[in-house]
Amino acid sequence: MSGPSGGRIPDSFIEALLAKTDIVSVIQESIKLKKNGANYSACCPFHHEKTPSFTVSQTKQFYHCFGCSAHGDAIRFLMDYQSLSFVDAVEQLAARLGMSVPKDPVLVAKAQVKQSTTSVLKRSADFYADLLKNHIDAKLAHDYLKKRGLTGQVAKAFQLGFAPKGWDNLLSHFSKEADALKVLEETGLIIRHKEGRLYDRFRERIMFPIRDRKGDVIGFGARVMDKSQPKYLNSPESPIFQKSHCLYGIYEALKTKQKWQTAIVVEGYMDVVALSQMGVHGAVATLGTAITSHHLTTLFHLVDEIVFCFDGDKAGMGAAWKALQLVLGLLQEGRKVSFVFLPQGEDPDSYVRQQGKEAFLGLVKNGTPLSEYFFATLSEKIKPNSVDSRAHLASIARPLIETIPPGIFKEMMYEQLANIVSSTPQVVRGEKAFRSYYSPKGQTKLKVAPPPQPMETAYIASALLLREPNLYTSANTQATFNQEIKAPGMELFYFLCTLLSSDPLLSSLQLRQKLLENNFDVNRLKECENKVAILPLDGLEAEFCGALKRLEVIGREQTMEKLILKAKISELSEEEKKALKEFLQFRESIG
Ligand code: CTP
Ligand code: MN
Repeated sequence: MSGPSGGRIPDSFIEALLAKTDIVSVIQESIKLKKNGANYSACCPFHHEKTPSFTVSQTKQFYHCFGCSAHGDAIRFLMDYQSLSFVDAVEQLAARLGMSVPKDPVLVAKAQVKQSTTSVLKRSADFYADLLKNHIDAKLAHDYLKKRGLTGQVAKAFQLGFAPKGWDNLLSHFSKEADALKVLEETGLIIRHKEGRLYDRFRERIMFPIRDRKGDVIGFGARVMDKSQPKYLNSPESPIFQKSHCLYGIYEALKTKQKWQTAIVVEGYMDVVALSQMGVHGAVATLGTAITSHHLTTLFHLVDEIVFCFDGDKAGMGAAWKALQLVLGLLQEGRKVSFVFLPQGEDPDSYVRQQGKEAFLGLVKNGTPLSEYFFATLSEKIKPNSVDSRAHLASIARPLIETIPPGIFKEMMYEQLANIVSSTPQVVRGEKAFRSYYSPKGQTKLKVAPPPQPMETAYIASALLLREPNLYTSANTQATFNQEIKAPGMELFYFLCTLLSSDPLLSSLQLRQKLLENNFDVNRLKECENKVAILPLDGLEAEFCGALKRLEVIGREQTMEKLILKAKISELSEEEKKALKEFLQFRESIG
């Protein structure tokens, strides 16, 4: 694999590194693996589960989770499990083997710039923290912090500081260091006046150093101690400080001993600090900007659960809906998102101080799940009380649900949408095959259970056939599989089956050739082939039979949907009634 650093570390080195690394022992350093035939398995470390679906293949040097689709090589594992960057993961693997990573001069130079920048910022934070202790006006700051209920302990944990009155406190501190002054100007802690004079940006403020997840100071927020404006000043963006990427409190959240599981996203610096002081860990805040998908991606690399905590006012509602839209695309299985709306006029700081830690944690625990918030908001905006408004609601909801990664959650969202607009999941997803069954005469009041997830099954079955064509014969495919099923990839699967039924000895290579000759789009198939590639040989047949079974269920569901529809319009024949009854029993039996 080649990581986000592109070709900076030579591919040949990565290859050599992976060739010498045993993924099983790498993963075993973090989680306990059980030998299972040719492979190893465990409960997946990337989502919550009770039965192991995380598989590691020693021969292929790959892991794959059949539950959440996490997969990759040893580098990917370290990146995801230990939240390392690509380069750091490579470094760690190399260190295990006593190899040294060839350094790209560009990278080295970049790292040096970052290092020299953050070291000046760190010294600035130390300087402000020291002034909070020792400056003659420090009492001003102490009184303010006391008024806000902050303890010395939490001030220390967040390395809060004090920028006193005066235009050149920081400036004088660094006056003899030209390089440091340059850094301070670049990062906006000192400003160059039109006439060329330099002066301190932050004056008469409480200083909040902003640290990245390694603890390096990358910027500052600063609050006035009275009612003057602007209430907060932040240092401007710089190459090491991008507000759309950084979160206040992330270092402190990671630093606590217990594993960080839930990120509580709040609006203000003071909220983060107050929550921490009151014993609520893991709150982070954006830096006075709207939340971005970068922020969310960062958080989901570190935790499985995000709770958005907003004010109960209109602005809070707007921010929540924006956050929801951004987070949908990241909702892989095992990730959880909920929303807490505080009473009007409260923020997490005021709430936790008045009501206490347990009350706040109660709010967090009982937050509104994303799905509920999603549908409640939509149905409030568009009351689903007529065919037209239901169609409108569905048309707004569908493109949003579409952005959710494939999986059970997405299916359940479609199902829920279908319930709300009194339709079926197939109709609300806009699947053509189903659209045509609906007459324009308002046939929308149908309650039909959703078929099992048809998203991938046909592709998985095809991928299995491509890996092991004789599954077609050994699984007696022809006998079990004889219905007109509509599902993504079905055409491709039919095609393979037809080929194999006329010539069961076709090789994988020949099948692929035929697919290409017949212009099948194989992108989706490729994804599934990756998943299938690491299955143990002795499990292939069971997988294939399972896929056939799922297809059978999908086919039956579809046939029955037609019957149920027909029953609404006309009388069913005795035979059809019998089929319907059998089907309903069959569905009972499979739960
Ligand atoms: N903010 C900012 N510039 C401002 C006002 C706010 O950057 N002029 C950002 C800060 O990051 C602040 C957040 O928006 O923490 C939330 O603002 P607000 O709710 O007004 O402040 P609090 O954090 O609640 O601060 P306090 O309780 O001290 O008023
Ligand atoms: Mn506040």
